Amino acid sequence: MPDIVNPQITDAVVDSFASAPDPRIRTVLQQLIAHLHAFVRDVELTFDEWHAAIDFLTRTGHMSNATRQEFILLSDVLGVSMLVDAINHKDHAGATDTTVLGPFYVGEHRLAPHGTDLAPGAPGARLFVDAAVTDAAGRPIDGATIDVWHADGDGLYDSQKPGYTLATPSMRARFVSDQAGRFTFRTIVPCSYPVPTDGPVGELLRAGNRHAMRPAHIHFLLRAPGAEPLVTHLFVAGDDYLDSDAVFGVKPSLIARLETHDEPTWPDGTPAPARWQLLAYRFAMKAAP
Ligand code: BEZ
Ligand code: FE
Repeated sequence: MPDIVNPQITDAVVDSFASAPDPRIRTVLQQLIAHLHAFVRDVELTFDEWHAAIDFLTRTGHMSNATRQEFILLSDVLGVSMLVDAINHKDHAGATDTTVLGPFYVGEHRLAPHGTDLAPGAPGARLFVDAAVTDAAGRPIDGATIDVWHADGDGLYDSQKPGYTLATPSMRARFVSDQAGRFTFRTIVPCSYPVPTDGPVGELLRAGNRHAMRPAHIHFLLRAPGAEPLVTHLFVAGDDYLDSDAVFGVKPSLIARLETHDEPTWPDGTPAPARWQLLAYRFAMKAAP
């Protein structure tokens, strides 16, 4: 039996998992113990700090429910989500870069025809998104489904507002690409917004003197037969927070420059407002293994 003040306790705990039947579980748990013990030793954790950590994690759990996942938000602001994303997308030559899914994907997006206005009557600069889906070699993908969602001019997703149900989507929809791989929609130019700060993760950001902002973006989740699902965003070029995203999700290839247009019709030939913005982008999907 190890003496609990003896530094050999780490070896004893690592050894206690030595006969875990699943080799992957064994590796993960043994490495977790080694790193966790090294951290506790390095910072010489006090009792007060240990209590604060237990309290923080307990409140993080209590804050989480079917629509609010404070643990994923914690993983996001600590950069763990993007690290896992990077490790799992090492080999994606020719395919669009990925980024975090985020907590506001609700699934079951409603199918919408090309050109649909996702934000009728909403205040904000009008935007036409003209996009295409190809494989990694640039060949168009017909019949890809594309879920799209973004926040409104106040930085809120529909799912954050009182009374939201799946039957009343706003600024979210599903499209299917045509034979040329194309899909189009109208909406408003999104703005930058803060991640939720009313829980333990907000406390953590304040303790670190960190802001909570995410640069303006539109979320995309693309699926196509024979391709790996693609979870990504397009960020609006020029946003003040591109270099300091609270969840570290920005990749240069995902920053899209908007073009200002005064033509009287949108690219699909329908009447346009006096001034509108165009976002053109080609998504490339990686073949499934
Ligand atoms: C979002 O983009 O919606 C988001 C992503 C990660 C954490 C919080 C929000
Ligand atoms: Fe978002």
